[in-house]
Amino acid sequence: MNYRHSFHAGNPSDCMKHALLVWLLRALQRKPAGVFVLDTHAGAGRTDLTAGPAGRSGEWRSGIERLLDDPPDVLADYVTLVRDCGLYPGSPVLIEALLRPQDRLACCELHPEEAAALRATMRGSGVSVHQRDAWEALGALLPPPQGLRRALVLVDPPYEAADEFSQLAAGLARGHARFPTGVFAAWYPVKHRAPVRAFHTAIRASGMRDVVAVELWLREPLDAARLNGCGLLVVNPPFGFEAAAQERLAALLERLGAGESGQGVSVERLADE
Ligand SMILES: C[S@@+](CC[C@H](N)C(=O)[O-])C[C@H]1O[C@@H](n2cnc3c(N)ncnc32)[C@H](O)[C@@H]1O
Repeated sequence: MNYRHSFHAGNPSDCMKHALLVWLLRALQRKPAGVFVLDTHAGAGRTDLTAGPAGRSGEWRSGIERLLDDPPDVLADYVTLVRDCGLYPGSPVLIEALLRPQDRLACCELHPEEAAALRATMRGSGVSVHQRDAWEALGALLPPPQGLRRALVLVDPPYEAADEFSQLAAGLARGHARFPTGVFAAWYPVKHRAPVRAFHTAIRASGMRDVVAVELWLREPLDAARLNGCGLLVVNPPFGFEAAAQERLAALLERLGAGESGQGVSVERLADE
């Protein structure tokens, strides 16, 4: 496990994932009943963008830095939350900031140092941190505890292993079998098209219903060595997701795109309800 998210914190892919994550959780919170949120690959929680790995990589300068001042209207909720969180927030910190007393958050992180940092950061009530394997946790931590009947599951693997797309498809199917009404959101890289096509085919073949994949491309995905774009696959999206995603992706592209050939966004339904 060599991946350290701090190198990439705040980059365009992080912004896309977090902007949609915030929308998804807010959508589930339209109803008063409590929500269980499972963040299967939580990371360290917070990152100092100006020092250490993030300071050296500078990836955030082409991402969150371009949104912080004067964000587009549809991204204002997300960007305000980022600003209010102080030191740059990862997914568990953003989720924790939105938790209501009736909601619960479970975060999993396998890397010992990241898990220790996460544990030190996540001290709010209703939050638990587990140093455990995400793929195993997708079976073990679902269905939600304590009688909660709604869940949002964020699956955000590092894609270090060659078979991570296959693990993701299997992990989603496992989690979905344990809690078929949960909302599952899985982030994936778009480097070139073939692995993404194979992943979508596996999801279609899994029998899961009501699946939407949204993607943001900064350029034509032809160079497998570059992160040319990213996607979020959502199972059981809340009402209005496709329109909300389209607006947010377009706003992100307008701010973060460099006008390269092939840049664009897509919202594709992979399986009907
Ligand atoms: C992309 S980062 C997570 C970023 C975080 N979700 C965010 O949005 O701020 C992926 C994280 O998963 C952790 N990880 C890798 N393999 C894992 C596994 N099998 N189970 C749990 N965590 C894992 C890595 O250590 C890394 O911190």
